[in-house]
Amino acid sequence: MTTSVAHKIILVGPPGAGKGTVAKGLVDRFGLTHLSTGDMLRAAGAAGTEVGTLAKTFMDRGALVPDEVMVKLISERVQANDCRNPDGSPRFLLDGFPRTLPQADALAAEGLSPDLVIFLDVPTDAVVRRLCGRRTCPACGGVHHVEFAPPLKDGMCDRCGAALVHRSDDQEATIRQRLAAFEAQTSPLVQRYGSVIARVDGNQAPEVVLKAAAAVARAHGVT
Ligand code: AP5
Repeated sequence: MTTSVAHKIILVGPPGAGKGTVAKGLVDRFGLTHLSTGDMLRAAGAAGTEVGTLAKTFMDRGALVPDEVMVKLISERVQANDCRNPDGSPRFLLDGFPRTLPQADALAAEGLSPDLVIFLDVPTDAVVRRLCGRRTCPACGGVHHVEFAPPLKDGMCDRCGAALVHRSDDQEATIRQRLAAFEAQTSPLVQRYGSVIARVDGNQAPEVVLKAAAAVARAHGVT
């Protein structure tokens, strides 16, 4: 239990660990602003911006987008009013950033090092199964799974009714590349954030995982 309130929160975990799913639940409970770099890059790609087009060439082969691109993207985004408490202090839930030590250094240089890192622990075979069956909504960002979270109407998003898609990087060969990138480039963050990291067993039913993550947030003063 800590005495200070955590308002700079980061979700870390392998691809498919459930970061997006947990983030949506935490946002609903605590009113945090959810900053998903994956969603930001996909939106930029769909809009055909220079950054989005460049990012897609890395994402489609399961590689990380270069640090300088990501740091610029997040540095600009965290300045927005929706990432601040009324007193001006930072308040956000980062999902997918930082993903490398240089990205963590950049966050620290801006005085935005996290006061809580929630690590979702899920074994490799489970994440491969989750990603192969994931279906996402390009319109509202809703996430479904053909087996674990099937839509009420086949192929349609429960939240907005748009047609669900199979993400281009959710093919098994690309998933393996993403897992390798996570091991090589992202897992060193666990040591970097040792003093503020809280592990949550992500290999449980979604509502159980969310309950555990919310309990961790509450224990760190998030209301
Ligand atoms: P990003 O979109 O962040 O992908 P990711 O980290 O690989 O994570 P995912 O979105 O695949 O999974 P998730 O953990 O959010 O799981 P979800 O909740 O959807 O990034 C994509 C790419 O962008 C990267 O590969 C990279 O190229 C680039 N990129 C992004 N940020 C970058 C950065 N900082 N630096 C460089 N490059 C960057 O759940 C997965 C599925 O499982 C769903 O179908 C869901 O319904 C289901 N599910 C969720 N929880 C459970 C549960 N408890 N039990 C059963 N099923 C569950």
